[in-house]
Amino acid sequence: MTTTASAAERTAQDVQQHFDIRVFDAPLGAEVIGLDLAKPLGEQDFARLHRAHLDHHVLVFRDQHITPEQQIAFSRRFGPLQIHVLRQFALHGHPEILIVSNIVENGKPVGLGDAGRLWHSDLSYKEKPSLGSMLHAQELPAEGGDTLFANMHLAWDRLPAHLLRAVDGRRAEHTYLARYAELQARSSWRPNLSAEQIAQVKPVVHPVVRTHPETGRKALFVSEHFTTRIVDLPEDESRALLDELFAHSVRPEYQYRHVWREHDMVFWDNRSLMHLAAGTPDHLRRKLYRTTIEGDSPF
Ligand code: SIN
Repeated sequence: MTTTASAAERTAQDVQQHFDIRVFDAPLGAEVIGLDLAKPLGEQDFARLHRAHLDHHVLVFRDQHITPEQQIAFSRRFGPLQIHVLRQFALHGHPEILIVSNIVENGKPVGLGDAGRLWHSDLSYKEKPSLGSMLHAQELPAEGGDTLFANMHLAWDRLPAHLLRAVDGRRAEHTYLARYAELQARSSWRPNLSAEQIAQVKPVVHPVVRTHPETGRKALFVSEHFTTRIVDLPEDESRALLDELFAHSVRPEYQYRHVWREHDMVFWDNRSLMHLAAGTPDHLRRKLYRTTIEGDSPF
């Protein structure tokens, strides 16, 4: 059966905006200049963005005045959205949006205050980790609050020979709970998890080196935040190997530091990168809205 697009649908598909993609002088990242995410995004523009995202792994859209609904709609163009286990920090009426914030109002945190304080790839502790994540800046501190990204394809490409041999065919366990108690002890941001929440984050096993499902490029896929052990290795060997992989994977030459500007929207590929929230001074306010798009099971 063939379907015919209505005139309105054709217009939405065909609409084109004039925009440029400026590649950063960095190991990853590009800025999309001149695109307004509040306006309809036609198929050709979407295809260009999709390609740029695969090529550069981080896309930065400046000065985006979009609503949570528009952020959700744009995110959904790339796949189904995931709901974070800490539902208490979802934006009211929008469970797809996790509030990342250090702001406390009436004695209650409005969001997850210490999100991303250890290197990680979003939701690697799920059977289907995130394809990508979008963060939209709502309120930024006058200093600090940067986000660092590290290129896991480069980390793989430049893996020393002894580590190449050590990771060959290996799999590793990831769990949301890996550092949870430690993070709870460090600050007051992390609530106790209910039995239902704990049941949602059972440990999973993924390959130590994954293949990007769209580009075929290989990437290291272990993180200090969520990876607990290499399967089938004695505990001491597993710990030593993970420590060496963690140190290698975030070398400065693989990194881009994002210095946020008001109304920035940043979209990254969790299959290619890890990221880290560099930290915000306690007395300054920071708030961003995050959506995560479901990816495939790593192979
Ligand atoms: C995150 O890990 O998604 C948060 C990153 C940030 O707040 O910079």
